[in-house]
Amino acid sequence: MRVAVVGAGRIGGNIARQLADGGHSVAVCFARDQAALRARAEEIGASAADPAEAVGAADVVVLSVPWDAIGSALEQCASLDGKIVIDTTNQYGAGPMPPAGTTAAAFNAARMPGARYTKCFNTLTSAFQIEVAHREPRVVQWLCGDDVEAKESVAILVRDAGYEPVDLGAVEDCAVMEAPRRAGAVYGEEYRLAEAEQVVEALRAGRPIPSAPRY
Ligand SMILES: NC(=O)c1ccc[n+]([C@@H]2O[C@H](COP(=O)([O-])OP(=O)(O)OC[C@H]3O[C@@H](n4cnc5c(N)ncnc54)[C@H](OP(=O)(O)O)[C@@H]3O)[C@@H](O)[C@H]2O)c1
Repeated sequence: MRVAVVGAGRIGGNIARQLADGGHSVAVCFARDQAALRARAEEIGASAADPAEAVGAADVVVLSVPWDAIGSALEQCASLDGKIVIDTTNQYGAGPMPPAGTTAAAFNAARMPGARYTKCFNTLTSAFQIEVAHREPRVVQWLCGDDVEAKESVAILVRDAGYEPVDLGAVEDCAVMEAPRRAGAVYGEEYRLAEAEQVVEALRAGRPIPSAPRY
């Protein structure tokens, strides 16, 4: 797939490298330091472009910027209409916040009209994601979104990046994969497939999820 990574820092840079290694065509964009962006692109086998150009040429857009930079990133991306978006962000720091009772995913999806919004890669630290990529048994990356076909494409990318995708459902239903780390949520926890399936089952049945596993 043609992938644009908007914000190639710790999380976006990992994803860019993993997808380039997996044979995808990756462009990185949106940086204050353009020279560092170009150097990073070269090192990971991606191209560097400006956001509108990278996004315009992409099938999938990975949004991986600090929360307070989302507005500016979206402005520079121009149109996300019809693009599959993978949002890796967490609501830390400044910037407009989701109202109580609204997930960050639902809030951000509404900021990207026309995008085929998904959220993924947000629950584990960047260092841990690097450490466990391609490890067997695979570590889970939780995924949510309202567009089932978009999620199927994202699941392919998640597998190519070295993880096991597990679909939590719609953007309104994904509070357990959002910050902060806390009892009764999957955010910040390592999961493998069997235990992740128990979480999905519990959520669908309206039960509390089982305690986070210890491996
Ligand atoms: N780090 C983690 O462990 C982790 C884990 C899960 C999810 N997340 C979430 O993923 C998102 C990205 O986190 P990250 O840790 O990868 O961030 P990061 O390392 O700080 O990377 C941010 C990227 O955005 C670019 N950028 C462009 N304009 C910016 C601006 N105005 N302010 C800040 N950065 C700007 C930076 O490039 P320049 O520096 O050249 O501007 C950099 O490439 C966040 O929403 C975070 O909550 C992070």
